Amino acid sequence: MPMEFTPLAEADLPMLHEWLGRPHVAQWWGPADSVDELREDFLSGGTTRAFIARLDGEAIGFVQCYVVMGSGDGWWEDETDPGARGVDQFLAHPGQLNRGLGRAMVQAFVARLFEDSTVSFVQTDPSPDNPRAIRCYAAAGFEAVGEVLTPDGPALLMRCRRRTERR
Ligand SMILES: CC(C)(COP(=O)(O)OP(=O)(O)OC[C@H]1O[C@@H](n2cnc3c(N)ncnc32)[C@H](O)[C@@H]1OP(=O)(O)O)[C@@H](O)C(=O)NCCC(=O)NCCS
Repeated sequence: MPMEFTPLAEADLPMLHEWLGRPHVAQWWGPADSVDELREDFLSGGTTRAFIARLDGEAIGFVQCYVVMGSGDGWWEDETDPGARGVDQFLAHPGQLNRGLGRAMVQAFVARLFEDSTVSFVQTDPSPDNPRAIRCYAAAGFEAVGEVLTPDGPALLMRCRRRTERR
């Protein structure tokens, strides 16, 4: 069974809350939002779309996707390309880290985004102190653009272009 991405649903919120509290996730994502905050973030009509990644039917991770331009609150204020998308992600189970699963998840999700012909590139912004994530994203086809200062602190901006456009 291939990797699947199912839109986050109300029934997933307690699981997502529990995942966010796991040390290997909280280390990079910060303190877990409450179930009510997650509902407000993802199920109340905002532009960020959230998905549960499943492999062979098992929930293995989380991916959120946003339109970069117009993010607001000080995020990505220089972006003028309406086709730019951004992704953030994590694997839920600590025993599944460092086995190539993250790059498979990211590659599959990005391929799905590029099915929309209006999507021009996909960005992600790991902490410069997170070499595992940076190496994973590079293996998934992202190239480092440079360090940026986001409202959450320093980040390494990385971009993935459509495969046919890559040199
Ligand atoms: C980031 C994440 C999605 C990557 O998925 P993954 O399956 O663990 O990563 P992969 O196995 O695809 O790739 C990791 C690479 O980093 C390397 N790596 C791991 N720790 C490293 C370290 N401390 N320094 C340098 N490289 C490291 C691995 O060897 C591997 O590279 P290789 O396959 O070329 O040897 C996953 O680790 C995760 O969810 N981490 C916790 C939350 C998080 O950091 N989310 C990202 C926030 S931006």
